[in-house]
Amino acid sequence: MCGIVAYIGQKEAYPIIVKGLKRLEYRGYDSAGVALLHNGDLNLYKKQGKVANLEEFTEGKNILGNAGIGHTRWATHGRPSDENAHPHSSTNGDIALIHNGIIENYASIKSELKSKGYSFKSDTDTEVLTILIEDIINSEGVSPAEALKFALKQVIGAYAIVLLSKSNPDQLVAARKSSPLVIGIGKEGDFYCASDATPIIEYTKKVVYLEDEEIAILDRNAGLKLYSLDDVAKTPYIQKLALKLEAIEKGGYDHFMLKEIHEQPRSIKDCVRGRLNASEGWVSLGGIKDYEDKIIKAQRIILIACGTSWHAALVAEYLIEDLARINVEVEYASEFRYRNPIINENDIVIAISQSGETADTLAALELAKSKGATILGICNVVGSSISRITDAGSYTHAGPEIGVASTKAFTAQVTVLSLMALSLAKKKGTISDSKFRVMLTELEAIPQKVQQILDKNDEIKFISEQYKDASNALYLGRGNSFPVALEGALKLKEISYIHAEGYPAAEMKHGPIALITEEMPVFVIATQGPSYEKVVSNIQEVSARKGKIIAIVTEGDKVVRNIADHVIEIPEVNEHLVPLLATIPFQLLSYHIAVMRDCNVDQPRNLAKSVTVE
Ligand code: M6R
Repeated sequence: MCGIVAYIGQKEAYPIIVKGLKRLEYRGYDSAGVALLHNGDLNLYKKQGKVANLEEFTEGKNILGNAGIGHTRWATHGRPSDENAHPHSSTNGDIALIHNGIIENYASIKSELKSKGYSFKSDTDTEVLTILIEDIINSEGVSPAEALKFALKQVIGAYAIVLLSKSNPDQLVAARKSSPLVIGIGKEGDFYCASDATPIIEYTKKVVYLEDEEIAILDRNAGLKLYSLDDVAKTPYIQKLALKLEAIEKGGYDHFMLKEIHEQPRSIKDCVRGRLNASEGWVSLGGIKDYEDKIIKAQRIILIACGTSWHAALVAEYLIEDLARINVEVEYASEFRYRNPIINENDIVIAISQSGETADTLAALELAKSKGATILGICNVVGSSISRITDAGSYTHAGPEIGVASTKAFTAQVTVLSLMALSLAKKKGTISDSKFRVMLTELEAIPQKVQQILDKNDEIKFISEQYKDASNALYLGRGNSFPVALEGALKLKEISYIHAEGYPAAEMKHGPIALITEEMPVFVIATQGPSYEKVVSNIQEVSARKGKIIAIVTEGDKVVRNIADHVIEIPEVNEHLVPLLATIPFQLLSYHIAVMRDCNVDQPRNLAKSVTVE
């Protein structure tokens, strides 16, 4: 939530910052703003709405300066407006600050500052922090960097911050706690700073990921200096970025979401590469190998996640319990962390997160760690906070996911979890050799089968046209297709704003059936498998009430075709792997419906890609 970009060096800062903000817009787009230092002046430009509004506002203005900070906001404190947009400046105009996170005790600090005579222009917690720093500079006579250190000792909450000041025009000061911040080290005293590496990669591959409670001084003359909040100097750990520029561009697609849907044959292949060999009959997840004995002996595995990642966890519950016969519990991270869960050192807690930055998931992991559990992570973003605090883990290797609606990250998560279930089952001896071999072969064939479904895009677009004006939709599935129904409903509601609910198909008659009318599209997963006949009965029940049925069926199905209004065939696949295929038509349906409704597919209203606040 909220994107931060900053630059100091020899070049003009404004174009670098604006380009970077566009890359980070997925993190929030309620407002955008920049502050630049030029000839001793600190100039701020801020506008409600997207970065494009800021660009329109600054058009024709000669915005100069080779030190600057920029921000794209996802509103927490204070509605989206020009006043609440970042950067915020001190009352004397000497410092400007951008912030991602929440200062929880801002109200008490604000009233104290008010009693000292300071006034505020915005409703934000960030302005409070900015003026607190100003107050410390005034009262203690210290530098802005020192004042920031003092201020951060007083605040409770999460932050990634970059500060720019008139008094130290050759420096940017950055700090983080629980919100991500990456520093890029360029040539000749050029420094970049951003919420993720995407604004940085075209300038440098050398980066330093700030750790919690670290402060960095980026000085174009003196270089990069790193300190703890207690002022202990630290040696920056410089890493080389593996990210490629093409991976974060649209590559000819109209939207990132469509590009990411179409990337799935490749992303699933990347995910299994080097981890699975069907002809030799082995599977190996290097990242967690050393923990497999412990997992097998564990009384239970607790999977924690939010949103789409939580749906991937539900799919994994079926996979791991059935194949490896280990008890799995799936928890919403936000609920888990606040209900005093019973956890001990025999528990294995696995966080699933595309971004690796989701605040609730991180906090839930920290809680599990404090109670002695082994904590593992399945993340997409390399170097993310979750991947760094966990004992071990596996990356999904889906590549950057920029569309707010998660697509390729979900299938990559399910792929890694399938590999994990198979590996554990093999080690524990709960799967026969023949079944193991069959499943490896099936998993290896998934990318090609996903491609076959993507090739039905026109057919799916035609079906989307029929339901684009629906007000409500129901998604039904049984067994491991139930999480797919939940995921289908989430995709539709988040990007097209059609109210949609996912239900276990058999639960329909316990309530939701009352909603079914001729107007109600009901999307059902009715693939071949143990509950096929039962699902067919559920479809009959919908049909009897004149609901519109759109069914995902296995190729060659004749029964459902005779009842449903539309069928979308998917290739035959092992029942455990159905979620990897059945989810694809739902992604495309949601995408097309959203486009037809003129919705902003990549940046749906009120959402942000990484939810780094509670
Ligand atoms: O980065 P994470 O996987 O931890 O994010 C979790 C959710 O915020 C995310 O899946 C969200 O639900 C997506 N918008 C779904 O498309």
